Amino acid sequence: MALTTPTAPASQLPSLARALGNTSIVGLQWGDEGKGKIVDLLTEDFDFAIRWNGGSNAGHSVKVGDKKYAFHLIPSGILRPECTSVIANGVVVDPLKLLEEIDQLSTSGVCIEDNLKVSLTAHVVLPYHRLQDQLSETRAAGSKIGTTGRGIGPCYADKANRSTAIRLIDLLDDTRLKDKLQRIVAEKNTIFAALYNQPAMDWEPIFEQYRACGEQLRPYVTDTVRLLHGAWKAGKRLLFEGANAVLLDLDHGTFPFVTSSNCGTGLSVGTGLPGSAVQTTLGVVKAYTSRVGAGPFPTEQSNALGDKIRERGHEYGTTTGRPRRCGWIDTVALRYTAAVTGTTGLCVMLLDVLSTFDELKICTAYSIKGQRTDWFPADALELEQAEPIYETVPGWHESLDEVARFGDLPRNAQNYIAKLETHIGVPVKIVSIGPARHQTLIR
Ligand code: IMP
Repeated sequence: MALTTPTAPASQLPSLARALGNTSIVGLQWGDEGKGKIVDLLTEDFDFAIRWNGGSNAGHSVKVGDKKYAFHLIPSGILRPECTSVIANGVVVDPLKLLEEIDQLSTSGVCIEDNLKVSLTAHVVLPYHRLQDQLSETRAAGSKIGTTGRGIGPCYADKANRSTAIRLIDLLDDTRLKDKLQRIVAEKNTIFAALYNQPAMDWEPIFEQYRACGEQLRPYVTDTVRLLHGAWKAGKRLLFEGANAVLLDLDHGTFPFVTSSNCGTGLSVGTGLPGSAVQTTLGVVKAYTSRVGAGPFPTEQSNALGDKIRERGHEYGTTTGRPRRCGWIDTVALRYTAAVTGTTGLCVMLLDVLSTFDELKICTAYSIKGQRTDWFPADALELEQAEPIYETVPGWHESLDEVARFGDLPRNAQNYIAKLETHIGVPVKIVSIGPARHQTLIR
């Protein structure tokens, strides 16, 4: 990555993007790191913006002028007419949500006809997936995962199960869809009655509703693997937008308190492109840590400090509105997530939220049963027992609102970033100090 300008202003983002090559954006914590802002800043210089995992559990909003757009499935590249937005095969698509987003964008005058492509092999989230997600969480009582209730886990489970899966291509063929739904709904009814005492669902209304969705989505549905290989061969510039984040990765996150896709590591599976199609991986991190839902979080501050971070950072879920758990930055976790993703550069977001603290803490190691460790434990139960070992550094009280260059940040803010680079072992390329485009410092 040839990013040599030490303190370039945000206006230099397009040239930054050109220097990156095909780029993957991943969240290195538990989600909501601000990936949407980075994607929005960079798409200007890319030909394709590609979502490859997760579903409508992810969410971000983008403000253009006085209009605000909420995205859960469609890559925000759709706002740029010259960029093709792709929902690739690894995404689980809720057609109702997707059509809602298409509707919202069309009403706002965004051109989507030729710019949106959806994989015909992407799996479909159906009403019984959402219902199962919610029922199983309710029933779980003390062992809840705290899912978004969007049917993500049950849909990926059906994908792995194969015989109970429905893909977008199935919505385009009435006979195929009818046969599958009749059989699958009967199976779900048996399970739902036995486990949750639920009344039987009728397959026919589901069939009618989803065949109609298929008709509406038909113009966008295509073989995205073929499309992406053509684009790659033609030298088009590809930007990959990872949803959720590495600590929520099904294999490499804090299992079982994770989502059901390989959100840090599944780009090839989710697109059909080999890893060699990606030159740069940018890891997006908050200047602190947040988490929604259950699961271990060693640096969590369940106190006035955590409340202060939550209020200053407006830490309430985009998808569910839930208050997020907040705490100090954890460089043990970040060393690990940077390693498993091959992160080559960091984007540190929301640095402005940390203004007004006298001192800041950086977790640099854990103590587990009296033993010091620098490596993130593979087992969530072990992580539950981790006590953070902190380095305390001085904070700053100045507002960052008017800062235009990295070198103009308060000395202690610059030192904080330098500490993160040292502890994580990856250079910081972008620092965000507010939601607006110009509040972005390039190094
Ligand atoms: P699910 O993806 O709805 O199954 O939820 C599983 C876990 O991942 C829950 O703790 C959710 O809060 C969390 N989660 C899923 N997607 C996101 C995201 O985009 N940001 C933050 N947390 C998420």
